[in-house]
Amino acid sequence: MSTGKGEILCFFINGKKVTESHADPETTLLSFLREKLRLTGTKYGCGGGGCGACTVMVSRYQPATKTIRHYSANACLLPLCQLHGAAVITVEGVGSTKTRIHPVQERIAKAHGSQCGFCTPGMVMSMYALLRNKPQPTMEDITQALAGNLCRCTGYRPIVDGCRTFCQEANCCQANGAGNCCLNGEGDEAEHEKPQLFDKEVFLPLDPTQELIFPPELILMAESGNPQTLTFRGERMSWVSPVSLEELIQLKTSNPEAPLVMGNTNTGPDMKFKGVLHPLIISPARVKELFEVTQTPQGVWVGAGCSLSEVRSLLEKLLPQFPEEKTELFRAVIQQLGNLGSQQIRNVASLGGNIVSAYPNSDLNPVLAAGNCKVSVISHGGRREVPLNQDFFVSFGKTILKPEEVVVSVFIPFTRKGEFVRAFRQAPRKESSFATVTTGMRVFFSEGSRAVQDISIYYGGLGPTTVSAAKTCAAIATRPWDDETLSRAYDVLLDELVLPPSAPGGKVEFRRSLTLSFLFKFHLEVLQKLGEMNVITNEKMQIQPLPREIQPSLQEFQHVSKDQSNLDPVGRPIMHRSAISQATGEAVYCDDIPRTDGELFLALVTSSRAHAKIIGLDASEALRVPGVVDVITAKDIPGKKVRSMFGYHEELLAQSEVSCVGQMLCAVVADTRAHAKRGAAAVKISYEDLPDPVFTIEEAVEKSSFFEPRRAIQRGDVTEAFKTVDQLHEGEIRIGGQEHFYMETQSMLVVPVGEETEFNIYVSTQFPTLAQEAVAETLDIPSNRVTCHVKRMGGAFGGKVTKTAILASITSLAAWKTNRAMRCVLERGEDMLITGGRHPVVGKYKVGFMNDGRIVAADLQYYANAGNTLDESVLVVEKILLHMDNAYNIPNLQGHAAACRTNLPSNTAFRGFGVPQSIMVVENMVNDVAVVLGRPADEIREINMYKGPSVTHYKFEFSPENMLRCWEECKVKSDYSARRRDIDKFNQQNRWKKRGMSIIPIKYGIAFGEGFLNQAAALVHIYKDGSVLVTHGGTEMGQGIHTKMQQVASRELHIPSSKIYISETSTSTVPNACPSAASFGTDANGMAVKNACQTLYKRLEPVRQKNPKGSWESWTTAAFFDKISLSATGYYRGPDLYMDWVKMEGQPYAYYTYGVCCSEVELDCLTGDYRTVRTDIMVDLGRSVNPSVDIGQIEGAFMQGLGLYTLEELKFSPSGLLYTRGPSQYKIPAVCDVPLRFNVYLLSDSDNPHAIYSSKGIGEPILFLGSSVFFAIKDAVAAARAESGLVGPFSLHSPATPERTCLACATPFTQKIPAIKPGSFKPWALNI
Ligand SMILES: Cc1cc2nc3c(=O)[nH]c(=O)nc-3n(C[C@H](O)[C@H](O)[C@H](O)COP(=O)(O)OP(=O)(O)OC[C@H]3O[C@@H](n4cnc5c(N)ncnc54)[C@H](O)[C@@H]3O)c2cc1C
Ligand code: FES
Ligand code: FES
Repeated sequence: MSTGKGEILCFFINGKKVTESHADPETTLLSFLREKLRLTGTKYGCGGGGCGACTVMVSRYQPATKTIRHYSANACLLPLCQLHGAAVITVEGVGSTKTRIHPVQERIAKAHGSQCGFCTPGMVMSMYALLRNKPQPTMEDITQALAGNLCRCTGYRPIVDGCRTFCQEANCCQANGAGNCCLNGEGDEAEHEKPQLFDKEVFLPLDPTQELIFPPELILMAESGNPQTLTFRGERMSWVSPVSLEELIQLKTSNPEAPLVMGNTNTGPDMKFKGVLHPLIISPARVKELFEVTQTPQGVWVGAGCSLSEVRSLLEKLLPQFPEEKTELFRAVIQQLGNLGSQQIRNVASLGGNIVSAYPNSDLNPVLAAGNCKVSVISHGGRREVPLNQDFFVSFGKTILKPEEVVVSVFIPFTRKGEFVRAFRQAPRKESSFATVTTGMRVFFSEGSRAVQDISIYYGGLGPTTVSAAKTCAAIATRPWDDETLSRAYDVLLDELVLPPSAPGGKVEFRRSLTLSFLFKFHLEVLQKLGEMNVITNEKMQIQPLPREIQPSLQEFQHVSKDQSNLDPVGRPIMHRSAISQATGEAVYCDDIPRTDGELFLALVTSSRAHAKIIGLDASEALRVPGVVDVITAKDIPGKKVRSMFGYHEELLAQSEVSCVGQMLCAVVADTRAHAKRGAAAVKISYEDLPDPVFTIEEAVEKSSFFEPRRAIQRGDVTEAFKTVDQLHEGEIRIGGQEHFYMETQSMLVVPVGEETEFNIYVSTQFPTLAQEAVAETLDIPSNRVTCHVKRMGGAFGGKVTKTAILASITSLAAWKTNRAMRCVLERGEDMLITGGRHPVVGKYKVGFMNDGRIVAADLQYYANAGNTLDESVLVVEKILLHMDNAYNIPNLQGHAAACRTNLPSNTAFRGFGVPQSIMVVENMVNDVAVVLGRPADEIREINMYKGPSVTHYKFEFSPENMLRCWEECKVKSDYSARRRDIDKFNQQNRWKKRGMSIIPIKYGIAFGEGFLNQAAALVHIYKDGSVLVTHGGTEMGQGIHTKMQQVASRELHIPSSKIYISETSTSTVPNACPSAASFGTDANGMAVKNACQTLYKRLEPVRQKNPKGSWESWTTAAFFDKISLSATGYYRGPDLYMDWVKMEGQPYAYYTYGVCCSEVELDCLTGDYRTVRTDIMVDLGRSVNPSVDIGQIEGAFMQGLGLYTLEELKFSPSGLLYTRGPSQYKIPAVCDVPLRFNVYLLSDSDNPHAIYSSKGIGEPILFLGSSVFFAIKDAVAAARAESGLVGPFSLHSPATPERTCLACATPFTQKIPAIKPGSFKPWALNI
């Protein structure tokens, strides 16, 4: 290894020079920013390039072209050492409230694109980088730029709308039809007066001259022709960055195993997630030969170091310079590059890196190989050219290249006349997702002939490496390109590319059918081309891609009354009170709190077995890891070692036995995160496996493995009624679980005060009281020694209640034992592994109905996979039964529900708390009835809906009037009948694409059935200067509760919101607060805040009377001198709700929130890919306290539901290990999943006497309406099945992933795949 000459790393961050002489090669830019520079605006969301929370902009000067390249990148994957010569801009450098906020920050915030705000800095940075390159982007540019940024709260629509204001293109509401704005005057006059969620007229203009300039010093540095080799040595790794090709070759010769790190998008995740350690890394980023581009008459040589974005723009630039026939391959590569990873990944990932990484599902390798590309490699032995063909890819991650060889460039040839190249891919999510199957195909015809002269086909995703379909090609070569040849080819292909039933990655039948579908698509496209060239007369239709353009959306809500004072913010679309701070990165989340002196970090050790005895725990090696201070086990707990519920115990740290993979066993505390993690990895646990772990619902039912009590409910006499009906039908549906995927992982900081066992705990929790109590019980101290503070959470969705309390207890235990401040922030993978999520449910039903569509009787059985501990599972199954009527008045209805005890991580509360699973079963049942009767599903729904004064199966009286109004209005707004006709026409005209539509209602009960949980309290202080500090028991997780409380206080105190501040939620200001859950936060806390403010306002009455013309400030000051207390508590008792499960009756809800949603999809039956073309949601939420916040909840919940029912899939190994532990494996909806038209309407003239200011709770209900997309897909699938002669009910489980959907379509291609007999093999993943 050459000795380092230069050892100073020099780069700029936000215009300030940074020099580091001891850069550790293991340090990423993200940890450097957050931990060293305390620039905490850049967030950690996953650490693997999959979420975009850490996005920054990197700028580099390119001496060859004398230009500056600005690009977005994931700070979590950028090695610090790679940054020499770069200028980085973080969200703090873009704008701040102290100086000036940037238009991007302003527009995302004011368009209501920031709820919990954890994703917002990343969104800002992606958009900022785009604007630095293109100040007036197109919508396509925006959606591409944001494709790699995940948001779990907003549903993206408002973010896109905020960003859209930078576009030049038509920016209208389309209220008068496509491209036609309401302002064009042709539509309803009243459109002009419709209230808007934000006013874009007030936005700051984008002024590119205001941006930070690229540091001239870096230009000089790059221009100086004397670059130095850089070497950095860290604790475990060295890094060397050579400056010439010779030096690189020399380094590689002496260190053949050292990886060349370019984008670090493969090496980085391998080190982080697979524990790979490279003692030396070579960074050839400054070797100019790796970036050279040379054109030849045969094609173009592209430097292997070029990033994928650079390759794309290079090829795009070349396209217009050559006739189309020469650029077939270029276009296929461009297409693949458009879908590969995210913009941030493509901006750094190199061409050579992608090829050499040899991913089994690389998108480039199949198309490059099919296109006859080759690589030029160099080593001490000389230079050689190696073709990218079937011999190149040897096995998983391995190529034919020798370890010391460096890929210098890649040759991409021109195509010839008569040569066609196409690439196809299908992924679990449309964008930012590795493909399930990906392919490159090339065919060459002699001039004027349809006889195939040459063909090559490569696939990815069908085994450990890119594979060639050589036999299939041989079967096609020399033959005419026609149906006969191709139909023989499908059979050969099936024989050639076989996947064993237990192949890693699963989806075996789907993957095999995709190979056929892609070949068929290629067939059609080539026929089209031959037709265009007049070689044949072609009558077959090419399959058009699915629509993708996001169109402007509508949000309709009502004006406040004309009489309402301008000062009074209630009912107005007020921006989330922290949105600006969130957009500037100033908002403080738990892990952003600065380190305190001597603070330690805690990492957990979890079980690797699903069901075993713990034989030994050896921490000796862990204690020898540098920086490790202690190992904490259950023996250290001075107080309660368990948390109990319904008589079941959950151990904080397992002592003698484990009951799931991921169960917490002990914790290692160390001076840094890295050391704590290394220490945790060094703890050795020995186990003795116990027999017969239970994983699936079926296994649990067979073994009667349930948590008691099981619940049942009944009205009427189902058995008797079944005897009287015209028809009976039985069915079943599985609803998969769901990961919360709050963007901020579980985080906490415990600070011992230093005396009398007092602790301040800062926890990201929805239930501070529970965390406080749990810590007190664990440490055996009274609750008054523990103060729990919650400023805000980066999302929660039910996942930050019970497990968070346990984590807080463990962290406090470590703080207590070491007497040091203790921080615990779970990594994304740990969080997903440990904390559980939504319960998977199997629902079975038997339904009896009349031929006129009336459902007379239904018997439903629900089994929920609860996991290894009870948690809240019995409450979840109770709620399942309470909602099993949804909108329908079924006179004879009975249900049973059980929480199954299994050896999987315990499931817990999740937005909707069982309701989304419950109603899914009912709606599927109603759908089946419609299919059996051959009637439209909306008719059957309508026939069976509650009408007039109604009573539920638990004897709760209510009026469904507003539900019916929502139904009718949704049908009108969505133009349901006309579109239904259009869909039928579309389906008749298209064989391989189908459209489907559904309209789904919801009736959702609000408040806690356990009456005591409905109480709330508040504490309001008025200071002498007139400023007001409000605290209440609710926690802010993005749902805008603090914004609403500010509005309430503003109305009640008759002062502007600007005088009111909410700092945090704390157990020392409001004791014994109930959790922020059940969509009841605003209802309860709003009343408490109102109560406190009214008390104070009344107390000020005498001073106001004394000085009626005085200002608020004069009154508050006067009140102090008049000895009037300026502090008051407020209290709300809440409704006394109950449910008596013995009598099967009760009053478990305060009222219902209603909604109806209509969605339409377009489905590609060959791949299962679909697009939600349009969604219209009509919601009755009474009189909204804040329409922008409420519409945000509606859209966000809908998208989360869309994820649940169509996208998100948890996969467990046969031994109970969760495979899907990050955004690369688990796909939540991204921008690409937003309905192309997404309209939300709030029902007008609705009052609700049961909640504050006549509003209604809205946090959870709309999640279920995401199922409208599921049922629209099912509708489209039914049309596809009809083409294959299949009619009648069919089973489609949730989520309706492309895999399930494609297989359900039963096309001739899926039907060719030999079915795998269940039980004949060990599947790769469990069907839990
Ligand atoms: C979140 C995420 C999503 C992704 N999505 C996709 C996707 O959808 N489709 C897809 O195809 N890929 C995808 N990728 C993979 C990505 O494209 C590759 O990781 C990337 O192209 C590798 O390039 P790199 O420069 O980052 O490689 P590095 O990580 O820097 O290096 C990877 C390996 O390549 C070797 N190497 C690099 N350059 C050379 C060279 N010039 N000569 C010899 N060896 C070399 C290194 O020694 C190392 O072993 C994704 C990656 C991530 C992190
Ligand atoms: S934290 Fe970097 S992409 Fe998720
Ligand atoms: S606002 Fe986007 S994740 Fe919460």
